[in-house]
Order: sequence, then C-alpha cells, then structure tokens
Amino acid sequence: MTIEAVINLDLGGPRISRHLYGHFAEHLGRCVYGGFYVGEDSGIPNEGGIRLDVVDALRALDIPNLRWPGGCFADEYHWRDGIGPRASRPAMVNTHWGGVEENNHFGTHEFMALCELLGAEPYISGNVGSGTVREMSEWVEYLTRDGDSPMARLRRANGRDEPWRVRFWGLGNEAWGCGGAMTAEQYAYEARRYGTYCRDHGDNRLYKIAAGANAGDYAWTETLMKQLAHLGCRRVTSTMYHALSLHYYTVTGPSWDEKGSATVFDTGDYYATMVAAARVEELIAGHAAVMDCYDPGRSVGLVLDEWGTWFDVEPGTDPGFLYQQNTLRDALVASVHFDVFHRHAGRLVMANIAQTVNVLQAMILTDPDSEAMVLTPTYHVFAMNRGHQDATALRVDLRSAPPSRPVGDATLTTVSMSASRRDGRLLVSLSNLDATEPADVEIDLRGGAVAGAEALILTSGALQDHNTPRSPSVVAPRPYDGVSLAGGTLRVHLPAHSFVTVSGAL
Ligand code: AHR
Repeated sequence: MTIEAVINLDLGGPRISRHLYGHFAEHLGRCVYGGFYVGEDSGIPNEGGIRLDVVDALRALDIPNLRWPGGCFADEYHWRDGIGPRASRPAMVNTHWGGVEENNHFGTHEFMALCELLGAEPYISGNVGSGTVREMSEWVEYLTRDGDSPMARLRRANGRDEPWRVRFWGLGNEAWGCGGAMTAEQYAYEARRYGTYCRDHGDNRLYKIAAGANAGDYAWTETLMKQLAHLGCRRVTSTMYHALSLHYYTVTGPSWDEKGSATVFDTGDYYATMVAAARVEELIAGHAAVMDCYDPGRSVGLVLDEWGTWFDVEPGTDPGFLYQQNTLRDALVASVHFDVFHRHAGRLVMANIAQTVNVLQAMILTDPDSEAMVLTPTYHVFAMNRGHQDATALRVDLRSAPPSRPVGDATLTTVSMSASRRDGRLLVSLSNLDATEPADVEIDLRGGAVAGAEALILTSGALQDHNTPRSPSVVAPRPYDGVSLAGGTLRVHLPAHSFVTVSGAL
C-alpha cells in the first residue's frame, strides 16, 4: 500500500523553535561527573575539566540549550556550595541518586563555561523545594547583575568580571513530587513568590518556567494558568512566569521496578514502547487545550523539559545512576517525538531530552574506565533533524488513512512524518515504526518547486541493535537511494523500522 500525502510548500505554519532540540544534564550518575566533567587533572583532553570530545560531538548537533542542575537534584542544590576554590567547596549527599557524595566541583562557573563551549543557552533550574526565595534571587543577581552589587562583587571575587546572560530560569522541578510534594495550589503560591523576586538585572531578561504537570495531570496546568489570568477578562498579562513545564517519559512494563531492558526486548515490547511514545501527542495537545482556554493568544509557553525512554538500568550498574543502553528503538521514539513537537510548535516552545550523557535516553555514552565514547542511535536522530531547528513548520496532510497496527487496547499509527523549510531548503522526516513491513510514501509537493532530493537513512538489521566502543557504528546514518523526485512528487520507500530524512532545494 502506498501512503499518499500533500505538503503545501507555500503554506507555512509556526516556527519550530530550535529549543525543541534542547538538552538536560543533572547531577545524576555519570552525567556530569565522568560525562561532561572529568576534572582538570584527567588524562582525557579537557578544558577546565570539561571533556572536549563530548563538547565536539554535541556542537555537531547545534544543541540550543542545556538544563541544569536537575531534575530532582535541583531542589536540594544550594548554589553557594558550588562557587569559589574547589578544594574548599562543601560536599553534600545526593540523596535522590545513589546516595553518593557530591563534592560540588562542578558548579555555576563550570556550568556556564560548559554552555559557552557548547554554544548553548543555559537553562537553570532553581531550588524551590528546599531553598529560599532569597537564595534563588541572589543566584540570579550573581549570574546576571552588571555594575556594583553584593552578588556581582562575589562573582568578580571568584574570577568572572562580566555578567553572564541567562534567559531560561526554572522555578523548581516536579513540585508535585521530588520538588516538594506540593498540591497545585501550594505550588502556584510558591511560583508566584519565587517568580516575583527573580529579577531582570540590566538588560538580561528572564524567561521564567514554572514547574508543571506530570503527564496527564491537566488540573495542575489549569491551576497555574488560572493564576496567571486576570479574573473576568481571562487574559494572561502576568510575568511571574512565562511558561509551564510538562514531564513525560516513555515507560512500559508491568511495574516501575520492571520497566524492561533497554536492549533485550521482543516485538511486543517494542510496539508497547512505541504506543507509549506516541502518547506524547495526546498530552501536549491536552495541556495546550487547557492553556488555550486562558491564553488564546499563546503568550505562555509549554516546555516539555523532560522526555525520553526510561528502562531498567544496565545489569551490574548502580540502580540510582539510571544508566541504560540505547537502540534503534530509542531512535524511533525520538523521531516520533520530534514529529509531534513540530506539529505543536505553536504552543510548545522548548523540549529537553533526559538526559544528554550516560543517563536514560542519552546521546552519548562514555566509558567509566577509558576515554571511549559512543554516539547513540538517538544522537543520530538529533543530527539528521538538525535542519528543522528554527525552520517554518509545513503540514503533512494525508490523503489516505495511515497504516496502523492494533497493540493491546491501542492502535499504533506506523508511519510518522513531519516537514519544514528553512534557508531555501525543504526537510522531510519520515519514520516507519513497523517492525517487519516496509512502507511506501508518495508526497505531492505543491506551491513550489523542489530541486534534488538527498536522503539519509537510519536503520539496522534488528531493533535491538546498538553502538558500543568496539562497534560504534552499528546504527549510524547512511546515504539512501530509496527516494525519487519527479514532476513535483516525492516518492520514498521506507524499510521496516527505519528513519529517513529527505532534503531538497526550494
Ligand atoms: O531525569 C531523571 C528524573 O526524572 C529527574 O530528576 C526528575 O525530574 C524526573 O522524575
């Protein structure tokens, strides 16, 4: 069966913010220590302790922002413990993640240096759960205050004269859970207080992100939106916070303790994962619909600042470190998420995969005992989709019902697509989620002419295939010739379990 679709090249939709390709680094397991940061005395090439191989690999993805220091860790992080000479920084226990000692050697200055090396904007998650309004407001002052002030003097005493620019600021994390176990009403009150005292210094403008809902908790979103709205006129004018976050992980398995292995799974497990991944569309649309009731002009952003697969940890690794391998299945989870993000780019302003290195659905896996570094299948999806960043979304309208499969009580649509245009180029992303059947797609390109069609494919013999230091390119993009362009029609053959991108000149 051929799937027929139409793309109107001249009917652009919303801009796909580059921040939909954002990242997340928490003090968790080997994400920061061993992942991003090895210390200045390490034999691994580094700048100020930051791993240069990891930086180079991420620069190739044009990563737009990096969220830090958590996650759950953010709500027990006290920023003053992470400044000044490293040897005199107090240690603490990382109670959420393995109960290990955190020596605070990677703190504010190291994080900002990392962002500068990456060319990425910082997204700092402040501590609402166990911190104070004063602590958070002084952190903002320390980072962004020009001229003379107590915190600007302290920053200068620690070696940084110029203020940094910091736009994205999180008011806590998962306030309904590890961030304080609050009700929506309690948190709304706290967000108002913290939001009020996080000031704009000089010309630095904060974009404050309130800790939002878990998955389908629409009541949480409604409570935060109601607070922003002027009663009576239902119009949002407040700047206490500019966006709400949302967290949704792709998790399956009978219980939280049996989520299943990242690499050992059968076709049934695979389809269950893809159904769970596709649910992100229902959730984004659901939260956006609640927000539309209070903010039809879409001035408040939705930020999916944690997403990705969450499987059981690799055998023999610390359960508190959340280290998992990454297969072709993860790549397809990512490609489906991006199609959804592109479709909802009118409300969704940022998304951050959890997490960038060595934790959950990582881009990069480093070896604890050597310099080895592996780029995961998920990394390659980010690379292949890079051209969608800051592009204009184009709708992909289907002429015929898309192929689907029953999966338990659900139905999985097995072909997923999205498209955009930027800088005189069209980029189309296509995923075939079917484990065994190929699919053919025929796209009528209207309202413009496309010249040339260059394609890349990411697939492999088995869904379980993954990359290791010994075999780093089992799942890697390759040039693809299963594509043709003639008379304004783009034809793409999609092998089973594959991700393909096609680009052409407009
Ligand atoms: O990403 C791992 C954890 O998942 C984060 O710390 C927390 O916010 C979420 O529950």
